[in-house]
Amino acid sequence: MTLGSKDFLSILNLTPEALEQALALAAVFKADRLSGRAHAQVLDGQHVALLFEKPSLRTHAAFTIAVRELGGDVIEPSSDVAFGGRESASDVARNLERWVRLVVVRTFEQARLERFAAASDRMRVINALTDEEHPCQALADMQALIERWGPLKGRTIAFVGDGNNVAASLAQASVMLGMHVRLATPQGFELNAGLAKSVRRVARFDTTFTQGHDPIAAVKGVDAVYTDAWASMGQESDAERRIGIFQPYQVNASLMAQAGQHALFMHCLPAHRGQEVTDEVIDSPASIVFDQSENRLHTQKALLAMMSSR
Ligand code: CP
Repeated sequence: MTLGSKDFLSILNLTPEALEQALALAAVFKADRLSGRAHAQVLDGQHVALLFEKPSLRTHAAFTIAVRELGGDVIEPSSDVAFGGRESASDVARNLERWVRLVVVRTFEQARLERFAAASDRMRVINALTDEEHPCQALADMQALIERWGPLKGRTIAFVGDGNNVAASLAQASVMLGMHVRLATPQGFELNAGLAKSVRRVARFDTTFTQGHDPIAAVKGVDAVYTDAWASMGQESDAERRIGIFQPYQVNASLMAQAGQHALFMHCLPAHRGQEVTDEVIDSPASIVFDQSENRLHTQKALLAMMSSR
């Protein structure tokens, strides 16, 4: 099983078949971990570099555990060494490729990640979050939904809040698997035109992708409601202003009541309780946020296994 592209910088790097294969493999890894079956031969003796320019709990912990449980180990050059201007990012890549086959990067601009990945023909790069996309999160989200529903074709998911990196990757993966996607954001916080176009380009089975500004209309009758922080990493100085703008987009019991009767609640975490989501929603039986979090491990294992095979 292989990925089909050198790097995983975006959900767009996957064919629908590769996406389905990754999710199937993640389910195997999850079941095997539960039954105590190890897969330590997958990365036997290999090192994976983790380069994180932004804070992380879930992505960092899940990659570290995934690499180790697959028989490898991690190296973690500090962000000031990797991206601090000590040398060019492309020279960093050309050094790292002499030691490692896989590198996991959390950074700012997607273009910066693309330049880093392009600097090496042989080192394979995984996007652990950029300002524009968060494809590893979307893999875990799709696994969590499949666990609840089986095939996703014909389902509808609403994302309410900021049209950010999580929304972009979620929308791309959802429409590839046959889900309709509705985005509700304040004016000016939509998915940018390029990303919106990319979602429509990869949609299968006549799925629809709509963007609007009415949270109630967006969640009406849907199967799942997803939200994320109103100010992403790097936007902290704008947080106060955003709280005012985003307040009508809070996912609370009243908004969830507009969704389908058995609608799930999703969040990539970390959550800002009392802002984008209330305690009553995130702690309700409808909430699958910790399944999403757990699945970061299993889906990232699947990604590593597919990218380490030649
Ligand atoms: N959801 C997510 O990516 O979490 P971290 O920022 O903690 O990695």
